[in-house]
Amino acid sequence: MNSIKYSFFVADCMNPFYNRDVISVNDFSKDELELLFRYADKIGDMSKVERLELARGSILAYAFFEPSTRTRLGFEAAMLSIGGSTLGMLGSKSTSMEKGESIKDTIRVIDLYADIIVMRHYLDGSARFAAEIASHPLINAGSGMEEHPTQAMLDLYTIQKEKGSIDGLRIGIVGDLKYARTVYSLIYALDKYDVRLDLISPNELSIRKEYITNLKHQVYEHERLDDVINELDIIYVTRIQKERFPDEQEYMRVKGSYVIDKKILDNIKSDAIIMHPLPRIDEIKYEVDNDKRAAYFRQVKYGKDIKAALLALIINEYI
Ligand code: NCD
Repeated sequence: MNSIKYSFFVADCMNPFYNRDVISVNDFSKDELELLFRYADKIGDMSKVERLELARGSILAYAFFEPSTRTRLGFEAAMLSIGGSTLGMLGSKSTSMEKGESIKDTIRVIDLYADIIVMRHYLDGSARFAAEIASHPLINAGSGMEEHPTQAMLDLYTIQKEKGSIDGLRIGIVGDLKYARTVYSLIYALDKYDVRLDLISPNELSIRKEYITNLKHQVYEHERLDDVINELDIIYVTRIQKERFPDEQEYMRVKGSYVIDKKILDNIKSDAIIMHPLPRIDEIKYEVDNDKRAAYFRQVKYGKDIKAALLALIINEYI
């Protein structure tokens, strides 16, 4: 592994993100992720005017074939905050894909209008496929059940900001570990660190083993949240991914398997944090939101800084 310690504060250092696609979190080393986090800190400290220079004249196009609130608006807000512009499509209904145009031609055209593309699609492999067609860098904003790498980047940044460091923590991921793509990116990213990972799910929604065969660290699986919740430093909750169930009956059986409510808060560490990629449905009660350990909305804010940092690093060779 390349062990160069990058520093953004040296004027002409190599920027490993420049002009690069973001398809899998596995494509990035721990050093690169940490450089991204340092740069997000730096962007957070910049004045509004300074930030606006980072992407002046650049255009971001989003192509979202699945619903989104945070990821799409977060990338738009991030691009606008660094001085760039945005355009895009939400679903294929209002585009020529409705007339039969292929996704290949659609991406080719978007590529002619933009300097950077952010894409979400319901098929596994879609992001890598589109990146091969586009000449500009493409960011995977969720590909099927496979990965959501920028969510993992912002999740790790959140942990670092909230807990001071990632190494040494005990992290529990709770809920739909079968269909939630955020879980896979998060596990791959955390495997670069020295953490203990507890995976808590109903048996029917356990992690797809064939996707975690290359992990360096062992993971620990549980069905009962009560067995581990009081030992966790991070409680990462996920929504049951209703839309990915082949059969609604099956969804109804596992719905509501884990609910974080006020009562549970008495059993968790006083300095633990509760995270969630959002949207939440019924797995975290609103009554939990005012507890200082509820970090999921702070996570959204860290997400905007990570997106701005990522875009600025991809757009600018020297920074
Ligand atoms: C996630 C996704 O789309 O995978 N959303 C997000 O980007 N934060 C999580 C989800 O839909 O459950």
